[in-house]
This record gives sequence, structure tokens and C-alpha cells, in this order.
Amino acid sequence: MKRSRIFGITVLILALLIGGAAVIIDGLRDPGQRSVASRTSGTIAIGGPYELTSHTGERMSNASFLGTHQLIYFGYTFCPDVCPTELQDMAAVMDELGEAAAQVTPVFITIDPDRDDPEQMAAYVEAFHPRMVGLTGTEQEIATAAKAYRVYYARAPDAKADDPYYLMDHSNFIYFMGPDGQNIDIFNGQMSIEEMASRIGAALPN
Ligand code: NI
Repeated sequence: MKRSRIFGITVLILALLIGGAAVIIDGLRDPGQRSVASRTSGTIAIGGPYELTSHTGERMSNASFLGTHQLIYFGYTFCPDVCPTELQDMAAVMDELGEAAAQVTPVFITIDPDRDDPEQMAAYVEAFHPRMVGLTGTEQEIATAAKAYRVYYARAPDAKADDPYYLMDHSNFIYFMGPDGQNIDIFNGQMSIEEMASRIGAALPN
């Protein structure tokens, strides 16, 4: 997954640079070191309209989350390593926030709608956090959501067409969104739970 992660990061950076945003990169060269990946200048919008189906079968959109802060991660339930680690981190950040976590909704959006139907998503998100919302949809709906968040994803190039356990390449960021739907911060998998919780806590109203 390291190569795909680096590729995904590269795609994100290119997308941001093309849009004219200033991107600060720190610590990408050493994956073992937990540090901040990137921060946009705010001139490039991360986030936007989408319509998807929740793990309980409800139709939901970006507007469903207005009024609550969100932590959003894109991945897939068959991911062998990176996604489970990131979602565990998200759950740990919620724990670290304590009572303030009530102001934050953790959201997991699949980039693998072929396998991640609502039932699959339900079993998965419930294993990580009781309030985590899993979102899936049609290929087009997922593409729209991923594009809004500058998320790169693709079936791994060496995946065989008939292999039910094929891997997906995907970028690897946790997006911290405000109650107005605006992006507040972006975290990568190298950041510590404590630092994420501290940065989130600083942005919460109390
Ligand atoms: Ni993954």
C-alpha cells in the first residue's frame, strides 16, 4: 500500500497545486514518523455536494451533516491494512476527545461500491465506533463524492478481473469538516491520536 499511498498523495498535491493552492508538505519522506502531511491555504475547496446511501439504508447527502463537525475517511472494507488502521485511529481520536466527541460525527465513505453494499458497510463501521456513519452508493455517486474531496482511487493495477479479493489503491487522508461543510483540517495516517484530537478540540466551540 505504500506505493499507492504515495501515488495518491502525489495526485492530491497535483490537484491542489493546479488549483493554485499553497501546500506545505512535512514528513512524507519517512513513513515511520508521525507528522503532518498537508494543509491547504483555504483557496481550494475540499468537500462539496454528494448523495449516498448510509449503512442503515437511508439516503443521505452532505447536507445531512450540516450542524455537526465531521471526520471523513475514504476507503474500503476489504482493505487489509491501511483502512482498518485509519478507522481505529478515528475511533481513538473520538475517545481522546471525551465529551467533546459528541460534536463530531465519524464518517466512512467507500471507494469500492461493487463490494461495499449497505449491509457490508453496517457490519464494518459498527466494529469501529457506534456513531460511525458508513456511506456507499452507485459508482457515479461515489465518484462525485471522491472528486469533491480530491480523493484518488482505482482498482490495483495487478488485480485480476475474477479475483473477489482484489485490492484498491486509494489516497489516505482524514478530513475534518466544520458544521457548515467547510474543510477545517486534513490529517494523514502518520499523525498521532493526541495531535489530531488536540487540533480538533481547538476548533470545537467549547
Ligand atoms: Ni485502504
